[in-house]
Amino acid sequence: MTDITERCLNRQNRAGRLAKRPFSGCDFPLPAGVECAARDNRQEKKSAVDTSGYAQWFRDSTPYISMHRNKTFVVLLDGAALAHPNLINIVHDLALVSVLGARLVLVHGARPQIDAQLPDSTFHDGRRITQESDLTTLLGTFGELRTHIEALFSTGLPTSPLRQSDIAVVSGNFVTAQPLGVVDGVDHLLTGRARKIHRKRINGALDSGALVLLSPLGYSPSGQVFNLPAAELAADVAIALNAEKFIVFNAEHALTDAKGERRSVLSPADLDAHISAKEDADTSGNQLHLRAVMRACRGGIRSCQLVSYVEDGALLAELYTAQGHGTQVRENYAGLVRPATPEDVASIVEVIRPLEEAGVLVRRSRDRLEREIGQFLVADIDNNVVGCCAIYPFGTVAELACVAVHPSYRDLDRNPGIGARLLAAAEQAAAASGATELFALTTQTRDWFIENGFADAATEALPAPKQALYNYQRNAKVMIKSLDWNDD
Ligand SMILES: CC(C)(COP(=O)(O)OP(=O)(O)OC[C@H]1O[C@@H](n2cnc3c(N)ncnc32)[C@H](O)[C@@H]1OP(=O)(O)O)[C@@H](O)C(=O)NCCC(=O)NCCS
Repeated sequence: MTDITERCLNRQNRAGRLAKRPFSGCDFPLPAGVECAARDNRQEKKSAVDTSGYAQWFRDSTPYISMHRNKTFVVLLDGAALAHPNLINIVHDLALVSVLGARLVLVHGARPQIDAQLPDSTFHDGRRITQESDLTTLLGTFGELRTHIEALFSTGLPTSPLRQSDIAVVSGNFVTAQPLGVVDGVDHLLTGRARKIHRKRINGALDSGALVLLSPLGYSPSGQVFNLPAAELAADVAIALNAEKFIVFNAEHALTDAKGERRSVLSPADLDAHISAKEDADTSGNQLHLRAVMRACRGGIRSCQLVSYVEDGALLAELYTAQGHGTQVRENYAGLVRPATPEDVASIVEVIRPLEEAGVLVRRSRDRLEREIGQFLVADIDNNVVGCCAIYPFGTVAELACVAVHPSYRDLDRNPGIGARLLAAAEQAAAASGATELFALTTQTRDWFIENGFADAATEALPAPKQALYNYQRNAKVMIKSLDWNDD
């Protein structure tokens, strides 16, 4: 019996047992040739799921599932998130992310829970000053929260999405700490900071398939326990593990611009400016989260994500859809791309001439290049133009043309490469000009465009002036990409 058929029958038996009625259908997609014993009545029952929407959503998430598999994500779940009714859904979603192959380290906080028990605590710059006498309360609270989280991940009831997930949650002495000491004249007593994150131990647990759960505690070599600010610890763990992502659950679903619209992507420099614009005295949870994200960015984490702990499914939407749901903080893909200036014409000619001679690009005279230099973007490394592209707006569509990277800089062992960075910058420029679609004409580079989100289109999809000039002899393929997701 195949695994799938077996699962079907198990499901049939379980459903029959639980509902005390005959099982009438199997909802596992079966490969061709595999028959499920439970399928007989299926046609009779109208599906409860909107299969087309569901299937499309699931298919669209495939690249993200592949991208995140075997990657390490460090997740901060603060005390407010742990107290929110949406916590159960967050746990289910984290379990799904884990089942889909991501390696998860969860760092929890406990501020509101501890505030409730130690209402007279004092703080400096957002950090609690921990007295010796506070430790029993702290350890009790952390223990309770950890147990609660472990219990949620252990739920195996047939009605729970976690049934059959069997996720091991591992905690331990993963952090060596030291006292924070006296900062701005304030002795932080038993508030500490991470001195060493035991990477090998954590990776060992992750390699075994476990989810690592850390309370904001660290131990000194002399055995002293220190209370660590959870957001800082989470950022330090992400840096030590060289995590692919640092994910912070936040009360606000995303950072917004002056018009109140979501900023889906923000560069670390923009985030720094955003943090600086706030009052120094603002040590709200949100501000502490942003500071932790900044700490992670400065420590080399390439992608940090702020997601809502209030909205159901925010994590999945952020990780597995092109549009996302929260705010991602990462270096701007267009970092090395800038608008071209008249001084760049000679360098652009050097990059594109061989391609024009080979028939890959349409020939442009130097005069035309000089006239159209305002349409060009260049990739500039140490004042050398190593690539270029041009954007020609036609109302709500724009043409991407003359994409070229110097052969020595193509297919670099870096992600994204120069071509992809030029494309990202071109998409931003096209979207800024009001275009919702980007098209390109290509004779030899179709697959590269497909890999970068373009799809084949008919010549009729071209704007009228472009159709009139279409060269049937050259027979270039028309490629189109929607820019709808470019909302910032
Ligand atoms: C297409 C081009 C701009 C990509 O630049 P790049 O900096 O190498 O791009 P990226 O790093 O984003 O992508 C590299 C990937 O694209 C692939 N690729 C490059 N050219 C390709 C082509 N013509 N067809 C299919 N795939 C191609 C590479 O093999 C590499 O794949 P990998 O990641 O699996 O190793 C560059 O190859 C180039 O200048 N080509 C000649 C000019 C050209 O064809 N321009 C398009 C005119 S319409």
